Amino acid sequence: MGNRLEGRVAVVTGAGRGIGRCHALNLASEGAKIVVNDLGGGPGGQTDDATAQPADEVVQEIKDTGGDAVAVYDSVASMEGGERIIQTALDSFGRLDILINNAGILRDRMIYNTTEEEWDVVVAVHLKGHFACLKPAAQVFRQQRGGRIVNTSSESALGNMGQGNYAAAKEGITGLTRVVARDLGRYGVTCNSIRPRAGTRLTLDPELLEQQKRAMQSRAGGRLGGGDSDVAMTGMAAGMFKPENVSPFVTWLCTDEAANVNGRSFLVGGNLIGLYTEPTVEAALYNPQEDWTVDYISAIAPQSYLGSIKNIAPAQDPKA
Ligand SMILES: NC(=O)c1ccc[n+]([C@@H]2O[C@H](COP(=O)([O-])OP(=O)(O)OC[C@H]3O[C@@H](n4cnc5c(N)ncnc54)[C@H](O)[C@@H]3O)[C@@H](O)[C@H]2O)c1
Repeated sequence: MGNRLEGRVAVVTGAGRGIGRCHALNLASEGAKIVVNDLGGGPGGQTDDATAQPADEVVQEIKDTGGDAVAVYDSVASMEGGERIIQTALDSFGRLDILINNAGILRDRMIYNTTEEEWDVVVAVHLKGHFACLKPAAQVFRQQRGGRIVNTSSESALGNMGQGNYAAAKEGITGLTRVVARDLGRYGVTCNSIRPRAGTRLTLDPELLEQQKRAMQSRAGGRLGGGDSDVAMTGMAAGMFKPENVSPFVTWLCTDEAANVNGRSFLVGGNLIGLYTEPTVEAALYNPQEDWTVDYISAIAPQSYLGSIKNIAPAQDPKA
């Protein structure tokens, strides 16, 4: 037990299981009081059998070790839910210092088979779910001139096959993080995001692991972007990534020691904490005439970087 977060209050969404549970326990071990949010649904966002049990158990675990915690079972996917979750911190503990946006689900499908419902539900839980809690928390943080926000993105957003809805939401979270860092940095608030690696019910699903294996085998050549997620999935299957190992860095980001870390994205898993570069223009063409034409681009493309570009996913010749 440490005391780096003594007197602080943290909301952790999706804290009933997996990585969120570990965040809640780790933050509590540094003295923070915790609002454990979890709707207790299925891995795909199913709510038929939703139960208070996961959140209640984590609250009990925290109390058993001498900490203080309260459960709230709202979904992060609506503004009312987000407001109630943040209000629970204020009503129960009188303040809010830390927001960890972590709740998440998966509905993987190739883009040509993805239904509108599968798209909407994933974007709602992840991207809108971040906004729904961020907005009321930001109002508190701005008033009190301080606070910590950690958002949850994913390596899958770098280009994992069959995860269009999830990638759209998770990369949206990375952009949102940069903006919130600027909106709130002036008030002494930091906002960063992580791309975690952890063996949980989302990643240890046998069907998902099999899908990933097939995608890796079917790839024609090297690719950029999501390449590291192959490493992640292989390690996941081998039990290399403990969810407990993600949380200490998240807790550190919430301490005073991390006051100057803002707007950045980190890979956190196993024995690695990595800092992502920010996207930048990798190569450029300039047109002395100002106005581009297709003819002009066709003429210069073969001699330029366009003629030897490194692809994210090489397009195969269907006739070959
Ligand atoms: N496990 C990994 O390797 C990995 C990799 C990249 C990103 N992530 C992200 O990390 C986060 C945690 O995932 P996990 O692997 O621990 O999964 P998990 O399924 O073990 O835990 C997610 C928790 O979120 C809760 N939840 C789902 N929808 C909710 C909603 N609308 N409102 C409130 N709670 C809700 C679930 O009930 C569950 O307890 C997710 O955002 C996930 O996308 C995980």
